[in-house]
Amino acid sequence: MDKRLVTSAVGGRFTLDGMQAPSPKPDALFAPLPDATAEVRISLGDRSYPILIGSGLLDSPATWAGLPKASTAFIVTNTTLDPLYALRLEVALKPHYPAVRTVVLPDGEAHKNWQTLNLIFDALLANESDRKTVLFALGGGVVGDMTGFAAASYMRGVPFVQVPTTLLAQVDSSVGGKTAINHPLGKNMIGAFYQPHLVVCDLDLLETLPKRELSAGLAEVIKYGPIADMAFFDWIESHLDALLASDPAALAHAVQRSCEIKAWVVAQDEREGGLRAILNFGHTFGHAIEAGMGYGAWLHGEGVGCGMVMAARLSQRMGLVDATLVQRLTRLIHRAGLPIQGPLLSETDNAGRYLELMRVDKKAEAGEIRFIVIDGPGRAALRTAPDALVREVIDDCCLSG
Ligand SMILES: NC(=O)c1ccc[n+]([C@@H]2O[C@H](COP(=O)([O-])OP(=O)(O)OC[C@H]3O[C@@H](n4cnc5c(N)ncnc54)[C@H](O)[C@@H]3O)[C@@H](O)[C@H]2O)c1
Ligand SMILES: [Zn+2]
Repeated sequence: MDKRLVTSAVGGRFTLDGMQAPSPKPDALFAPLPDATAEVRISLGDRSYPILIGSGLLDSPATWAGLPKASTAFIVTNTTLDPLYALRLEVALKPHYPAVRTVVLPDGEAHKNWQTLNLIFDALLANESDRKTVLFALGGGVVGDMTGFAAASYMRGVPFVQVPTTLLAQVDSSVGGKTAINHPLGKNMIGAFYQPHLVVCDLDLLETLPKRELSAGLAEVIKYGPIADMAFFDWIESHLDALLASDPAALAHAVQRSCEIKAWVVAQDEREGGLRAILNFGHTFGHAIEAGMGYGAWLHGEGVGCGMVMAARLSQRMGLVDATLVQRLTRLIHRAGLPIQGPLLSETDNAGRYLELMRVDKKAEAGEIRFIVIDGPGRAALRTAPDALVREVIDDCCLSG
């Protein structure tokens, strides 16, 4: 009998009596991880953790062994992923936790806010969850960012695990401990640095991902090339068709190399005192597009794709890179199915509106916008730029009326 209950009028659902699905045979608990599982480690002293990358990880009991003991595991997911994967995760966790609950959030960037965050707290408190409760973020970057923030603040911090289901979340957002919600005046403005205990990238989960979301994830994969690894950029150029066709081997390499680069950056600069800012390549322009269009109209990856074109053009105008690299990057972003022209954010002063939105970027200091620019192939730098130059780039890159 399925005892899942809908308990909230605003989209939350959590199990009151644990789930009744069959548990794996005891032998299965001692089975090794599936063959060909790769592991990338985030090295942060006592906050270090592994990222597991491979196939068949969701259903493998070995994946979930070794996590902190607790009376309850709490899965946070959304209305799209709940029917696809939540029950399978519940079954896999059941041998490890006496109770497994699930809370279901509304889907979408437009819901990455206080109101939705509160649904997680409502469910945790209604369930009398204690400070050992382990949260599991089953979803893309939106679910991951909100679950992480909930884990950071519920009872001043409970353990959590990332189970990213989008390419974007597997290559970027689930790794490194940035958690946040949006504010109407700015993207990811309220949040915390809080590391998960484990990240599980099951590549099989990407099979149900819509093509538009796959392209959005490719933006963050492409990002790692010009800022850190031109050999990886070359590899993406030659394997883009395989990636777009969701070829398992190509996806496995893209996820692993992206996580390795992110791990290398985060290990040196966990709280973005310096180096970590390079991961924001394309994001200053991209966040302005996301906020200016209204959250959810452009996908985060689409904003980043277009934002990278703008940031590359700015780098070129600042004399830091030549036109060849800018053209290669633009062509790759276009081939990946991402926009390379910015939207009009204002009929009267488009560039002014971009600048206004970019001044609330977290990298801005005393109202001065700072951009991640390409400082030669495979190298990035944080720079300010004169407004007039930025205006020229925006005018160049935006669709005209
Ligand atoms: N914390 C970080 O370091 C960091 C880094 C990059 C991005 N982000 C954040 O991540 C968010 C974007 O994440 P996203 O691109 O994963 O978007 P998302 O979480 O909104 O997921 C995209 C859509 O795909 C659906 N979906 C997810 N997995 C699916 C699957 N396997 N099958 C079918 N549908 C699936 C979701 O329900 C959603 O509708 C943004 O809010 C961004 O700010 C955070
Ligand atoms: Zn991003």
